[in-house]
Amino acid sequence: MIIDRLYRMAFPAFVRMDAERVHRLALGFLEVLATVAPAKPPRRQVALEQPLWGTLFPNPIGLAAGFDKDGEALGAWPRLGFGFAEVGTVTPEPQAGNPRPRLFRHLAEESLQNAMGFNNEGHQALRHRLGSARRFAIPVGVNLGKNKTTPAERAQDDYLLQIDALSGLADYFVVNLSSPNTPGLRDLQNREFVEGLLGQAVGLTERPILVKLAPDLTDAAALDLALHAVEAGARGIVISNTTTNYALLPGSGPPGGLSGRVLTRRSREMLRSLAPHLLGRALLVSVGGIHDGDEAYRRILLGASLVQAYTGFVYAGPGFARGLQHRLLERLEQDGFGNVREAVGAGLEGRIRAGADEGRVP
Ligand SMILES: Cc1cc2nc3c(=O)[nH]c(=O)nc-3n(C[C@H](O)[C@H](O)[C@H](O)COP(=O)(O)O)c2cc1C
Repeated sequence: MIIDRLYRMAFPAFVRMDAERVHRLALGFLEVLATVAPAKPPRRQVALEQPLWGTLFPNPIGLAAGFDKDGEALGAWPRLGFGFAEVGTVTPEPQAGNPRPRLFRHLAEESLQNAMGFNNEGHQALRHRLGSARRFAIPVGVNLGKNKTTPAERAQDDYLLQIDALSGLADYFVVNLSSPNTPGLRDLQNREFVEGLLGQAVGLTERPILVKLAPDLTDAAALDLALHAVEAGARGIVISNTTTNYALLPGSGPPGGLSGRVLTRRSREMLRSLAPHLLGRALLVSVGGIHDGDEAYRRILLGASLVQAYTGFVYAGPGFARGLQHRLLERLEQDGFGNVREAVGAGLEGRIRAGADEGRVP
């Protein structure tokens, strides 16, 4: 595609500019593209389709939260080959986020570091955009956070208010308790808060509610939390958000969370550890350092029904999701799967190896 070539040509210039400025430019470009290019339905790949929570996902590759926080370029994502998009994190009131600069590249490691702090236009603006644009070919999830100024005792209200207001407009919700950039947010990753919130939230919407976890929890703590969330009504777990384990990238340090290739192993191993206990009880969404179709396939073998990417997309450019689609189709065929559903979790049952040497066990 021509925009792939343009992206590759412009990349060296982009990396000399402030990362957030490039992100704004890209989003603006995609918004225009989505408006002027004729809307045509994405080419069907039946082997990649899955009905999940009563909604048809045309393929399992999603845009991760944080890229299109305010739903500005919703029409662009299916055109680029994404099978779903997650907007947000959105908060009840608009907020500016942390001071700039707050987005940094670690080029050699194909990683990013962000300390954005939920900069967004607020849930009313998103509501308006989603309401005026329900013509997307793909499901849209809404990732929810709390305002920085909301004290912990009232955090629950921030989530409930938004679920109530956006219920008819989202295909699924994600309760984000795992961003490292809102002080105190990760402290809400506890049983009591999650149970209290989910208990009320499920009564407000028919749509599935998922919980997104930090990769910095121990596997045991993450599993305990996930199981309680599912018990309280969560229908999916998103593994994982960015990491503050700076040891993964020597020379890095606060503020903010790391994403991209430095996160690949931790995000994958967290999935491998949690999935056997959660499969059949909740759907799993794997995100963190997915940069190619082989890694996406690995996550599916390890139990993820859906995968998402942010940083891989930034480094690869507009052809990213189509490239992953292509590779997933190849891998499914090689391993004799008729469709992606058959492959979900196959690596956990010993039929398939899901490591660097994955493939059918002879
Ligand atoms: C600049 C930036 C902003 C992000 N904003 C959010 C956000 O608002 N909410 C959220 O749940 N995750 C956010 N994330 C995390 C991503 O959704 C994803 O979980 C993480 O980056 C790991 O995936 P990746 O390695 O493919 O980037 C953000 C990530 C980046 C790089």
